[in-house]
Amino acid sequence: MADILLVYYSHTGFTRQVARDIADAVSCDVEELKELKQRRGYRGLIRAFFDSILKTATALQATEYEPEDYTLVVVGGPIWIDDIPPPVRSYMLQHRGKFKNVAWFCTCKSMDPERAAQNLGKLARTDVRAQLIVMRRELESLRREGGHDNELRANYHEKIVEFAHALGAIAD
Ligand SMILES: Cc1cc2nc3c(=O)[nH]c(=O)nc-3n(C[C@H](O)[C@H](O)[C@H](O)COP(=O)(O)O)c2cc1C
Repeated sequence: MADILLVYYSHTGFTRQVARDIADAVSCDVEELKELKQRRGYRGLIRAFFDSILKTATALQATEYEPEDYTLVVVGGPIWIDDIPPPVRSYMLQHRGKFKNVAWFCTCKSMDPERAAQNLGKLARTDVRAQLIVMRRELESLRREGGHDNELRANYHEKIVEFAHALGAIAD
């Protein structure tokens, strides 16, 4: 068993891409959070907005790994309404008090995700030891070629390497 557990939720795949890139850079077990009731189409999007605003708990499919078995749990998700998304909130509440060390990564369009990191720390009942913020435009640059895209892509890969180093140092 690895010392690091990477747990993430992704609705449209951007955070999944980051989770995979982190998992390629650092040895870890990986758990993707899935809701019992999937959010699909227009109705799913409306529900996502309301659940985020109201901080509604959401039922998750059973998970495989126990966070208390790991030195470090790396939690990831998209930013929804300036905060962590309901599936991540539900996971953190389910496992409250079981985290030795927590790190956080997120994908977002534009907003400053500082509040999300603070709220995650409160839910984990521990400080967030490392943080990685990835903008959608950085991930979109992975699929394109061009001067500015090359720069964004290089910046993204550099951030992944730095984050992986930070995770390794915490877990050691
Ligand atoms: C319901 C909802 C709320 C969102 N709220 C924000 C926000 O407050 N700030 C932001 O920068 N992006 C926001 N976004 C954009 C997502 O954070 C962004 O598209 C993210 O990369 C999606 O990740 P995913 O593909 O892993 O689901 C929101 C998206 C949705 C669906």
